[in-house]
Amino acid sequence: MLVLGIESSCDETAAAVVRDGREVLSSAVNSQIASHRPYGGVVPEIASREHVGNLPVVVSEAMACAKIGWREVDAIAVTHGPGLVSSLLVGLSGARALGQVTGKPVWGVNHLEAHIAGMFLDPEAPPPAEACPVLVLMVSGGHSCIVDMLRVGEYRLLGQTLDDAAGECLDKGANLLGLGYPGGPVIERAAQGGDPAYVKFPRGMEHAKNRKTDNGLDIEMCFSFSGLKTALLYHLRNHPEDRDRHMADLAASYQEAVMDSLAMRAERALKATGAHTLACVGGVAKNAVLRGKLEALARRRHARLRLTPLAYCTDNAAMVAAAAGLRALSGVGNPPAVEADPSLPLVEEEQNP
Ligand code: KG4
Ligand code: ZN
Repeated sequence: MLVLGIESSCDETAAAVVRDGREVLSSAVNSQIASHRPYGGVVPEIASREHVGNLPVVVSEAMACAKIGWREVDAIAVTHGPGLVSSLLVGLSGARALGQVTGKPVWGVNHLEAHIAGMFLDPEAPPPAEACPVLVLMVSGGHSCIVDMLRVGEYRLLGQTLDDAAGECLDKGANLLGLGYPGGPVIERAAQGGDPAYVKFPRGMEHAKNRKTDNGLDIEMCFSFSGLKTALLYHLRNHPEDRDRHMADLAASYQEAVMDSLAMRAERALKATGAHTLACVGGVAKNAVLRGKLEALARRRHARLRLTPLAYCTDNAAMVAAAAGLRALSGVGNPPAVEADPSLPLVEEEQNP
């Protein structure tokens, strides 16, 4: 089964062709980072305008690199949420127009499910039926949560951030440090050679125990990053000289606090569920410090670790085509791409006890 995937939920315009939900024949990604950098974050109007120009380019590139014709494509899969509505609409309209011209079905894909499918783009990964249940640490710029993947299309939310997402926390921290955008990679670079123990930043609700959040999640598997950001702000106010003398130490300490918080909650979730496989997906999964901490954790708890291949951590369309392909092949099926839903959840609230 060949699926053409299209992704435009935020600031990456991407198209890809994936065979049977696993084998990437092509993956074209056009990043708009340079256009948003002067503003320190994604500007929705700029993003949607650039998607309009970039979409035909990435689709042509993906088709050409895959060396296939439209006849061989079985379906078009497009992210229909969550994300910026003006960005989602560009991908959705483009996919539906392509569907009309080619007569192919157009399926709607949940962006969060696509990130999860990204782990199966590792040729070494076992098929989902063998790998599941998998405990998934999902860490991106817009979302941070811990999800139990029971099988393709069936997920249970175990924990989530109570305020900022991990990537958002890195983006805001980099802004305070004057390091630029996006925060994750610039902090990782600035932290090289720095002392991660220079400042002991808070790990956010480190000691919260035996409590449920308003939506019934176990507090021990939830994250909070807003205190960390404030701690950095105060540190910079109280020690302005550190900007010149200790930038690498500050970046390393901040990065350490974010990754420690994530690994700590992942460990609690592993203990609570007794899961045998841990996975990490989303843009922040690219981070070497986090990958190292999760490797150590998996070794300590005798769990298998599935890290998303680096090329498919940040937004791309291969993961979108993979999610659709895995659903189709496992008999779950895909919904038609009808409209954009900026706050589409991975798990409907009533499904999550
Ligand atoms: O998954 P993604 O591309 O977009 C969303 O769905 O949000 O994730 C983007 C996030 C950004 O916040 C960025 O700072 C972070 O991923 N990121 C990283 C790294 N590369 C990207 N965070 C930590 N280390 C990295 N190397
Ligand atoms: Zn994403």
